[in-house]
Amino acid sequence: MIRTRNLSKRYADGTLALEDTSLDVPKGEFLVLLGRSGAGKSTLLRCLNRLIDPTSGSITIDGVQVERLRGRALRALRRRVGMIFQEFHLVKRKRVLDNVLHGRLGHKTGLAGAFGLFSEAEKREAYDILVRLGLEDQAFKRADQLSGGQKQRVAIARAMMQQPVVMLADEPVASLDPAASENVLGYLKRICKEEGITAVVSLHQVEYAKAFADRIVALSDGAIIFDGSPDGLDEATVERLYFKAEDDPAAEAA
Ligand SMILES: Nc1ncnc2c1ncn2[C@@H]1O[C@H](COP(=O)(O)OP(=O)(O)OP(=O)(O)O)[C@@H](O)[C@H]1O
Ligand SMILES: [Mg+2]
Repeated sequence: MIRTRNLSKRYADGTLALEDTSLDVPKGEFLVLLGRSGAGKSTLLRCLNRLIDPTSGSITIDGVQVERLRGRALRALRRRVGMIFQEFHLVKRKRVLDNVLHGRLGHKTGLAGAFGLFSEAEKREAYDILVRLGLEDQAFKRADQLSGGQKQRVAIARAMMQQPVVMLADEPVASLDPAASENVLGYLKRICKEEGITAVVSLHQVEYAKAFADRIVALSDGAIIFDGSPDGLDEATVERLYFKAEDDPAAEAA
């Protein structure tokens, strides 16, 4: 479903954020990208939906080569790729249901799109998604009245309204407490599995990665240093992920 080959990204200031990474994510897999701050997780996710352009390498999503897409073709790609961020990006003063309907705007054309007009069937669909995310009691509240975990589930509902084939989530639980984090990751995984959506979710906590991932890809300094099942993630790799040599006083003394 997602395939990258020798993907690299060098930012304008010279930072090499992603170096020669190749990845195959089969349909329906729930993949966790693990890595500490600066490892390149966001860079990889942003390349996948072309919020940024990779410097070199190729990306294929659902059979479409995307690294050079422009205009209409790029918009078509973005419709099929749901995106969730650490900050929920909801419209605070709008109702939860309207925030969810917003996810469908990319599919609309002409006046209906311009005025944000939705059919009864679309409203029903949005409500049904909210029910599946345990938010039926929140549908008619203003988005800013919800807890952090609830807001992130609304963001998931909005992304689902796009009818995506791929879901990308960049640190979706980084601003939530542990209970809300597990709750949100549980809902995200469940709905992706039910719909056969391929998910790439970046996290920095090993314990959540182990609990929720079908497969873990660990990034360090822009390179993949582990790619395998959660059970196979060994202590040495975790050490390598979170403690660089320059942080280690023993290494410095040597
Ligand atoms: N727009 C940019 N211009 C220059 N350098 C950047 C830019 N965005 C990110 N970087 C650098 O690229 C590297 C990878 O950053 P990235 O944001 O992908 O990491 P991350 O794994 O998402 O980290 P975090 O957990 O802090 O979100 C870092 O060294 C970062 O400083
Ligand atoms: Mg990031």
